[in-house]
Amino acid sequence: MQQTLPPGIERVLISADEIDAAVRRMAAEIARDYAGSPLVLLGVLKGACFVTVDLARALAETPGAPTDVALDFIAVSSYGNAQRSSGEVRLVQDTSHAIEGKHVLIVEDIVDNGHTLHYLQAMLKARQPASVRTAVLLDKPYRRVIDVTVDYVGVTCPDEFVVGYGLDYQERFRTLPYVAKLRPELLS
Ligand code: PRP
Repeated sequence: MQQTLPPGIERVLISADEIDAAVRRMAAEIARDYAGSPLVLLGVLKGACFVTVDLARALAETPGAPTDVALDFIAVSSYGNAQRSSGEVRLVQDTSHAIEGKHVLIVEDIVDNGHTLHYLQAMLKARQPASVRTAVLLDKPYRRVIDVTVDYVGVTCPDEFVVGYGLDYQERFRTLPYVAKLRPELLS
């Protein structure tokens, strides 16, 4: 059945079902790697709001996954309302609990040039956690400006300006249940 798309959206690139499958596959990998260890899922706001919660739920439904899972959020911004990252990452809101001695899994919606993740990984590692790993729903490895380690990847993202499932353009389109390509004429 043809889906009616909101104005401004050209086409769906990654459907809700494909996102769900990717999140569940990541949850299975995370469950296997962390087994019985307590874990802090650290979602990076705002973009990773949906993937963090969906990953937490998928983990809870995955046999053998850690049962001691804390959920925390951190907010950073490097894009603001711009299309391109400034490369200058700004901490908007810190974690609500200390991470010293904890196994921390950063959850991101997308890694593009890598500046945001590089900043976060360095900042968090300096706080002496037991470990820091990263799970990313959408990876654009061909766009890296700075090398970062990504431990769990949902989908390699097409080379388009994408919105939906947490990703915005000027704060719009975050709540779409899929990842979509924006109509190029909207990009200013
Ligand atoms: C987006 C996204 C990542 C970052 C990735 O955040 O959520 O955190 O950009 O880009 P990079 O790899 O090029 O650094 P943004 O700064 O747009 O803030 P938001 O999540 O609040 O939309």
